[in-house]
Amino acid sequence: MRLEGKHIVLGISGGIAAYKSAALLRLLIKEGAEVQVVITPNGKEFITPATLAALSGKPVVSEFFAANTGEWHSHVDLGLWADLMVIAPATACTLAKMATGVADNMLITTYLSAKEPVMVAPAMDLDMFAHPSTQRNLDTLRGDGVIVLDSPSGELASGLEGKGRMLEPEQILEKVVEHFESASRKDFAGEKVVITAGPTREKIDDVRFIANHSSGKMGMALAEEFASRGADVTLVCGPVEGRKPVDARVKTVKVESALEMLDAVKKEYRDADVTIFAAAVADYRPEVAVAGKIKREERGPMTLSLVENPDIAAEMGANKREGQVNVGFALESDNGLQNAAKKLDAKNLDLIVLNPANRSDAGFNADTDIITLIGRDNMKEEFPLMTKRQCASVIANAVAKIAR
Ligand code: PMT
Repeated sequence: MRLEGKHIVLGISGGIAAYKSAALLRLLIKEGAEVQVVITPNGKEFITPATLAALSGKPVVSEFFAANTGEWHSHVDLGLWADLMVIAPATACTLAKMATGVADNMLITTYLSAKEPVMVAPAMDLDMFAHPSTQRNLDTLRGDGVIVLDSPSGELASGLEGKGRMLEPEQILEKVVEHFESASRKDFAGEKVVITAGPTREKIDDVRFIANHSSGKMGMALAEEFASRGADVTLVCGPVEGRKPVDARVKTVKVESALEMLDAVKKEYRDADVTIFAAAVADYRPEVAVAGKIKREERGPMTLSLVENPDIAAEMGANKREGQVNVGFALESDNGLQNAAKKLDAKNLDLIVLNPANRSDAGFNADTDIITLIGRDNMKEEFPLMTKRQCASVIANAVAKIAR
């Protein structure tokens, strides 16, 4: 029984695939989960609460108040009780309400007060699924951290064909089991992981500097993901105002400039098993950092002479010992794949994470990102818009697969 002791809220909305929810419910119970069904008013048109109550051994929640007693059903309590909420089927309407917070039924209020991770299995016809508004809502939900279970792709010819169909109950069960297994996975136990994050500041004088928009969010998401998977994590972090990893197990070394970051990384790198270069390091620094404040003597152009900074990832790559894994990032606005592949070679990396420089929902300072992983032996894997923590999770999965 792989779900022994787990509390799951199964949300059912009104689509033809609702008849499959009974099979999913049986499978979850068979694996030892305790399941509370929350159904929308439309859902009840497709499957009866009596069937679901009999299978789950619990009264089904649908209305805000119990009809006979007027007792208030607390969605907040459900959110505290559950370890996971799975909404299957999730119709276009339910996805839209989730994305916009239209809390007019118990399923949506439960979702809005959920403290636990939420999974949705979309179910609708292809036209509705392909409509830009549905796709927008799915992107919003992914950005909010919802795990979107995509339609089966095995038998699909290409593109969107077959999309919108709900995953089979057996496949949803496997996703649920995988979710709990990965949450308790300690596959980096005993390994030292060094991560660079944030921008660097290159001093012009005592009051001015050259920097960039990196917030450190990606590096911190990686630090938290690896720490949660048992690694001993050191984060070498440039100046990021007021932000620090939430996980107290992460050791943080604060630096300002590229030269300071290089020094700190060198110290940590020797006994590192995995090193990830997520920082946006300034490629150049002013040749001289002037003491005090440069005065504006007279009107007219001013010339700043810049010198090249060391390439930290390349230097570490050149000194990589057997068994060490180095992962870089490539922030690109065009020719991403070619440029990332070049950086993979030039910096002797094992894996590079390509992300776009020209979108507001990805790259610098965003909470989400759109990544492509490029590895050795022509390995290439593209991912949809995900939270940076979800990106960190797939990056960690890819690192775990690299032979050491
Ligand atoms: O911090 P966030 O706001 O969350 O944003 C995340 C991010 C956009 C900074 C991150 O996802 C990212 O893409 N980081 C790398 C940005 C970058 O500088 O890319 P690059 O293509 O210029 O550099 C390639 C690789 O070499 C990177 O791994 C970089 O860390 C490393 N490098 C670059 C120059 C240098 N002097 N030293 C380096 O180590």
